Amino acid sequence: MPLIIYDCEFIMPKNYVCYKPVNFSHISNREFFVPGCKSISHRVLILSLACMKRLCISNLNPGEDVLATRKAIENLGVDCLDYENNLRVDPKPYFDFLQNEDSKFIKVDMANSGTSARILMGYFSSISNLTVQMRGDQSLSRRPMKRMELPLNLMGADIELYDRNNKLCLPALIKGCELKGVTYDLPMASAQVKSGILVAALNAKTPTTVTEPYLSRDHTENILKYFGVHIQRIGLQTIVYPYQQKICDEDRYEQVYVPGDASSAAFWCVLGLIIPGSKIVIKNVNGNLFRLKYIGVLQKMGGNITVSKVGTTLGEDLVDIQVESSLLKGVETDSDMASSLMDEYPILSVAAFFASGTTIFKGLKELRVKESDRLTKIKELLNLFGGQCQIKNDDLVIQVTKDNTSKNKVINNVKFDAVHDHRLSMSALILATGLQQEICLTDAEYINTSFPSFLEQFS
Ligand code: S3P
Repeated sequence: MPLIIYDCEFIMPKNYVCYKPVNFSHISNREFFVPGCKSISHRVLILSLACMKRLCISNLNPGEDVLATRKAIENLGVDCLDYENNLRVDPKPYFDFLQNEDSKFIKVDMANSGTSARILMGYFSSISNLTVQMRGDQSLSRRPMKRMELPLNLMGADIELYDRNNKLCLPALIKGCELKGVTYDLPMASAQVKSGILVAALNAKTPTTVTEPYLSRDHTENILKYFGVHIQRIGLQTIVYPYQQKICDEDRYEQVYVPGDASSAAFWCVLGLIIPGSKIVIKNVNGNLFRLKYIGVLQKMGGNITVSKVGTTLGEDLVDIQVESSLLKGVETDSDMASSLMDEYPILSVAAFFASGTTIFKGLKELRVKESDRLTKIKELLNLFGGQCQIKNDDLVIQVTKDNTSKNKVINNVKFDAVHDHRLSMSALILATGLQQEICLTDAEYINTSFPSFLEQFS
């Protein structure tokens, strides 16, 4: 079957939309909300079919990335039904397909979502009789996929990627086949790649061991354990054993609750810290320690933040986060923290803009291959507002002048292209709000990929 290449360059001029900051004199005793965790939402959907669980999911992330995952599993034959603010997922029709020898060809569009693309690539490549053509949007089609294809090939997978100027990317043609277990040392700490391997390994003939250079978020492992899969972590190694797919005949749905997104909560944390006189709380947030490392960094900067455990869900803690405005000071973070702070560097850089002294975030190489080259774009954003931000090798250095003049000077007509990147848009809006400056943004609609209600809460 030929690989159909989608490679449209959009060269239409971009439209800037101007945002006037809300005048928060202070935010007192206000509750902020965040949508369900995006990482967990993807995994709950994908693992419901990998483990053949009928689920009734509440608080699923409503953004476009998770919608892409939902559509992909629906294409496969899984029943998804919106039911009283929950999503009912029934993999039974798909299970029936797996039982007969028919072959299936589907097309999936992963839009902007790297997590869906990489984890599903792992899953699809482990299903014999299945052929999948996978594509993504302009941003995703430029992100590296060789890192996923390499370990899967060692397991015996058959994946064809598109060669874009010597970089292997989407679109991809994935022909599912029988896989064998593998022992694999990940060259980078990546939860997406680790998860893609672990999910593929469920259908392999022998166990699989993945070793990471640093530990990355472990939602996949926690949910797999919660669903009854034999999986263990020893130091930097994760070992997963093959899983016997069977489905309960009883028509019963297991209720699961997706906790609030810790990375989305980071935007409200920084807003609360930088608007003088504020006191806010963010409720029901995922308390996974890998996801809350940014709170330790903000506390080290002098941020008055407390975290209280309020429950557990899907094998992880659920927390409330209280934030009071604080005078911040610069901080230094090491490379070994980078994988746990990757999604928060844009908003942590905004916090650094409001801090006294110098901040150095070290070892941000991976930040270049996110939804955009975030390293370059953070520097551009801060410097547009008069910051002094530099990239030294893979480190980001943010300096603030002693008299803080850049924060008081009105800079007119600031235009920032957020290049398909939701986290850059949200960080830019928080920065502009903290400075009480107008900002004109392109691509702010990409906020919908993770946090559709973000702008509504600015009132
Ligand atoms: C994610 C892992 C991280 C993170 C991304 C979500 C996940 O990416 O940046 O937003 O859900 O597994 P990497 O695995 O590329 O580090």
